[in-house]
Amino acid sequence: MKLTSRARFSTICLHAGQEPDPSTGAIITPIYQTSTYVQEGLGRHKGFEYARTQNPTRFALERNIAAMEGGTTGFAFASGMAAIGAVATMLKAGDHVVVSENTYGGTYRLFERVLTRYDLRFTYVDTADLAATDRAFTPATRLLFVETPTNPIMRLTDLRGAAEVAHRHHARLVVDNTFASPYIQRPIELGADLVVHSTTKYLNGHSDSVGGIVVAVHADDIEWLSFVQNAEGAILSPFDSWLVLRGTKTLPIRMRQHSANGLALAEYLAGHPKVTRLYYPGLPSHPQHALAKRQMHGFGGMLAFDVGSLAAARTVLDSVRLLALAESLGGVESLISHPASMTHASVPPEWRAALGITDGLVRISAGIEDIEDLKEDVIQALDRIAS
Ligand SMILES: Cc1ncc(COP(=O)(O)O)c(C=O)c1O
Repeated sequence: MKLTSRARFSTICLHAGQEPDPSTGAIITPIYQTSTYVQEGLGRHKGFEYARTQNPTRFALERNIAAMEGGTTGFAFASGMAAIGAVATMLKAGDHVVVSENTYGGTYRLFERVLTRYDLRFTYVDTADLAATDRAFTPATRLLFVETPTNPIMRLTDLRGAAEVAHRHHARLVVDNTFASPYIQRPIELGADLVVHSTTKYLNGHSDSVGGIVVAVHADDIEWLSFVQNAEGAILSPFDSWLVLRGTKTLPIRMRQHSANGLALAEYLAGHPKVTRLYYPGLPSHPQHALAKRQMHGFGGMLAFDVGSLAAARTVLDSVRLLALAESLGGVESLISHPASMTHASVPPEWRAALGITDGLVRISAGIEDIEDLKEDVIQALDRIAS
């Protein structure tokens, strides 16, 4: 199973980083559930000494996702937050980071509640506005940390433009690509220096593992992240690595279905009388639809819509039968949530309002069920809103 340099994305997802197991020929990389490795003699071993440092299952996943993102090396961590924490260790006291203002709440919490204690500073800006992003840089800025699309209002950042801004200031562009997945966009091809993921979401795709990954391209970043992954030790377990490897094999076909269902739901909801606003980059009415078409390959399964009030949102959330009321996203089953009281409850209300995260906003992570079943469920839930 040697991949040629011409191998296409689906082939890379299936095969990159994996060889038949050398001891048996097993086609699927085994779960190397071991803490240590027997050495043949003092100083003589097979390159595997201790499982925090080296594990064949984790290595296979790291090679696989690095290839999917078009990067050089991947580092798998115990969660998406652990992966973002590892990137933050590239900073030194006194450094500054420019961050997308609508970044994931857990990232904001890590930056503001933990890392400011170490004399690191963060400025939050609408990275869709590249001029404002440029102005937020200071001589101490080392990273531009971008999420696109943002959660839940699906605002986009022009990644090529963001890379130019970061590089003009001799800073690295870090992209949290969790919401899109490498099927939909590959930030490194557009100039990003580092990509992070919560593999918990689309990459694993089956809602049965929590994990994270960093993909790097520069030799100095790779050397540091390799050191930190071992030094801090927040590694992804062999079993979780195996689960995510299984997940990445089907990422392209899952993403096609997520995108088709996301678009169909968005189109339906945009015309519904009870929906006052709809956020989905695949609709021509999205203010950044042209950028979405340029930068994204399909528009994904995430959408949000406003039904005007908390009472109406509650009716929808309490009435769905097939969609599950739950946090998280990117699994094969459809989820529905209320950002203001769930994922974004820790964001101050004024800030939430400025971002458009109203009490009437509902978010859907469209799964891969039959679209007619999803539509029927959403229709019957919307029908229950008192007119
Ligand atoms: C965009 C984004 N980044 C990072 C994370 C954190 O990942 P994890 O929950 O795997 O730590 C999440 C989790 O929801 C997320 O949505």
